[in-house]
Amino acid sequence: MTSLLNLCINNIFIRLNLNEMIDQEIKNKLEGIKVEIAACTEEQKLKDLYASVLGRKGIVKDLMAGFRNVPNEDKKAYGAAVNAVKEEFTSILKEKQEEIVSQSNAKASKKTSEIDLMIPMETHRKGTLHPLTLIEDEVIQIFKRMGFSVVSGPEMESDYYNFKALNIPDNHPARDMQDTFWFINKMLLRTHTSPCQVRAIENIGAPLRVVAPGRVFRNESLDASHENTFHQVEGMIIDKDMSIANLIYIMKTMLSDVFGKELNVRLRPGYFPFVEPGFELDCSCLICNGSGCSTCSQTGWIELVPCGMIHNNVLEMSGIDPNEYTGFAFGLGMSRLAMMKYNIADIRVFNRGDVRELSNFDTFI
Ligand code: DAH
Repeated sequence: MTSLLNLCINNIFIRLNLNEMIDQEIKNKLEGIKVEIAACTEEQKLKDLYASVLGRKGIVKDLMAGFRNVPNEDKKAYGAAVNAVKEEFTSILKEKQEEIVSQSNAKASKKTSEIDLMIPMETHRKGTLHPLTLIEDEVIQIFKRMGFSVVSGPEMESDYYNFKALNIPDNHPARDMQDTFWFINKMLLRTHTSPCQVRAIENIGAPLRVVAPGRVFRNESLDASHENTFHQVEGMIIDKDMSIANLIYIMKTMLSDVFGKELNVRLRPGYFPFVEPGFELDCSCLICNGSGCSTCSQTGWIELVPCGMIHNNVLEMSGIDPNEYTGFAFGLGMSRLAMMKYNIADIRVFNRGDVRELSNFDTFI
């Protein structure tokens, strides 16, 4: 501004046209502001630009103040030049103002139109129970209805409960049937839930009627039907006059309940040191109802539950007189049962923790 005033004072305006009444430096400044206005997209910034040209301390005000120093013969042209600046900026600022307002209105209405009311709401996936949990719960409920109570035992067992008290002494060949994970302190990971039999007899005594669900471990190589960690439910009844007929009845009732249809069962001899006689209990094939198909290798039967009458040695070792009480026991493979019920072809599904494979089994219930 000082230079403009100096110019006015020194009276060195070039009088070729109106614009030339104004100092070049001011003109450059105004040109710069014009560029800024053109690029402006924010209302606040535009207000600042307005103030710098047309405001109380703006360039136009200064130009008008310089009017009195302009020689009389130039006053008219000078006045016209300042007015032209004023009018030009008023108009481009107004135009810009309108542009910004209409752009922000368009943005707001675009935002509103971006909400598509037809898009389905994001649903939160509901967690589901593991198939082993489901089948175990179901089996336990069935046994509870038949008067069984539920007991448990530790996963880390002693040699005594896992083997000796079950009539499997040191060096007995049956130990090799169960590839055992041993700890360095001579404890082991239980290879079956049968140790719960012994603990239950010790804790409850006769008569008793218990089931013991749990996780068991064997040093197996994995494939579609072998796991090193799987689930069993051990069960037994000890009472007066218990017979194989009672065993068959309980197994048949339980399996028919689990699969929701009447199943036939049969017994074949099986060897387990803690029962005598021991059996493999088969049930009629669930797929073909016993007429023979590829699932049951055309036999019509599926091997499902190892079981037997509790060995006198086991009863005696735990302090029960076999002349007074008899009993039967069974070891239900939960993983096997779940595979059959839910049509799962690979036992490794249970432990690999892939929720895509494990979800949605509760729809079977
Ligand atoms: N504990 C045996 C196993 O895991 C299964 C078993 C067989 C349990 C016969 C029993 C039984 O109670 O009577 O191989």
